[in-house]
Amino acid sequence: MKKAVLFLFIILGLSCSNKDKEKSNSTKNSTYKQSEMAALMLEMYALNLENKALILEGKKPKEFPSEFLKIHSATLTDPSDRNAAFEGFSEIYIKSYEEMLLSSTDSMKGMHNKTINSCIACHKTTCIGPIPKIKKLLISTN
Ligand code: HEC
Repeated sequence: MKKAVLFLFIILGLSCSNKDKEKSNSTKNSTYKQSEMAALMLEMYALNLENKALILEGKKPKEFPSEFLKIHSATLTDPSDRNAAFEGFSEIYIKSYEEMLLSSTDSMKGMHNKTINSCIACHKTTCIGPIPKIKKLLISTN
């Protein structure tokens, strides 16, 4: 059963990244550019990885990174991904990040995981390929 789920993840994950590759092939004559959203996502990934390290050292992450707000305007590889659900998940992500910054050092791990789970919630509806990578940002709580 677990294997079947993993297999599904791999297949669907490939189809998500293939979408980008098809695009790059069909635009052979113009240089393929990474979308603004993909670039922002990689920044968000890097910052949350830093946060994980800080929290594990018992430190607090820095203030709210204002570039995260670009999630409301950055252009997507597939513009049709920006629908009401996407906007809703963006709000939940921003809110949980803000709550995490305000939380006490004791509840920081749980709040960080809540933030990461909000990344995953959106990815389940849009681009499931990076989910295994995003899961690595979770902090084990046992
Ligand atoms: C509101 C929905 C949403 C949220 C929240 C979200 N993502 Fe994404 N993510 C996307 C979409 C859609 C793409 C595809 C972007 C594109 O290709 O234009 C993406 C792409 C990515 C990628 C692949 C980038 C690449 O190399 O092309 C990574 C990694 C990623 N997200 C990580 C994260 C992390 C980490 C978080 C939380 C900190 C997060 N995402 C939150 C929707 C979301």
